[in-house]
Amino acid sequence: MQAKDINTIGIVGAGLMGHGIAQVFAFHGFQVNIYDVDPTMLLAVPDRIRENAVVFEELGLVTPEAIAAGLNNITLCTTLPGLTDGAQVIIEAVSEKLDLKIAVFREIESYAAEDAIFCSNTSAISITDISQGLDHRERFLGTHYWNPPHVLPCVEVIKGEATSNEVFETVCELLQSAGKDPVRVLKDVPGFLGNRLQHAMWREAVAMVEMGIAHPADIDKVVKNGFGLRCAFLGPLETADLAGIDLSREVHAYLFPFLSSTTTPSPVLDTMCRENKLGAKTGQGFHDWPEAKRRGFVKQRDETLLKILSMRRPDEKEGR
Ligand SMILES: NC(=O)c1ccc[n+]([C@@H]2O[C@H](COP(=O)([O-])OP(=O)(O)OC[C@H]3O[C@@H](n4cnc5c(N)ncnc54)[C@H](O)[C@@H]3O)[C@@H](O)[C@H]2O)c1
Repeated sequence: MQAKDINTIGIVGAGLMGHGIAQVFAFHGFQVNIYDVDPTMLLAVPDRIRENAVVFEELGLVTPEAIAAGLNNITLCTTLPGLTDGAQVIIEAVSEKLDLKIAVFREIESYAAEDAIFCSNTSAISITDISQGLDHRERFLGTHYWNPPHVLPCVEVIKGEATSNEVFETVCELLQSAGKDPVRVLKDVPGFLGNRLQHAMWREAVAMVEMGIAHPADIDKVVKNGFGLRCAFLGPLETADLAGIDLSREVHAYLFPFLSSTTTPSPVLDTMCRENKLGAKTGQGFHDWPEAKRRGFVKQRDETLLKILSMRRPDEKEGR
């Protein structure tokens, strides 16, 4: 199948990521079928997308007519056979559990068209492991979007052990036609590129809380007002080049023995989970999250990110 022939996308899982991925394709003119096992999540999709679109409209990036047309491209499906009907590419965004993903893909394959392409939005699980129950593993791969998926341009495209080159390239081309900036991950390693980088930093951030080195707000601030601010402009390896490879090497030689190398989650996180301090969704995590603050914060996040994207280096702008 060629990217130019694809006009209908199926999305399984209508949560935080699924509804945003639906918005990406629907607002780029694709027909989108979306399904969730939980009818409340499914029915919430149009309102969630309307709410996401407010910032785009305020910034003049989309008209009310285009929002209505985008929403009109979305079909809420109450069954999996309904979801697969006509879908040429099916993207799974269900909860991050290997057994669940394997079972969902087995079922999807039993209903889907014979040449349908299957994508998982897993954050970190091996693509090859998820594909183990499929008859046609050559049509299976990872497409890892970043939250918020309707704003951030990067999608990591992960080649499983059995993924065919043709399917891999078709999906990269499809993502470009939906305004995304695909990154090719040629080896299927847990966490792919972005989550290996991100969670290496989070391990250190949580370890510093555990050791009482600083308050969470100050750890966040050093990223937001320090090196994080340049991350939209410079990647870590560009930064190393500008700082000097010799200096980077010296810092690594001195610093690495002091960094966290734990292979298990911090006891700090264990305690927070036990106390239901799960972050914004339960109102408390490292910070307090009353509902009004959470909503305002998410809107301001999207607005800030969209403004940054409009100002980026010309060579980085092809996405979104
Ligand atoms: N949250 C993030 O920042 C983020 C970023 C990138 C990737 N991901 C990945 O995306 C996937 C989804 O994450 P999320 O944050 O959207 O989770 P979520 O909990 O918001 O949504 C998951 C949805 O899947 C539905 N679901 C569960 N079992 C199902 C089934 N058998 N059939 C259909 N629907 C089913 C649930 O009802 C729920 O609505 C996970 O694999 C996650 O790791 C998440």
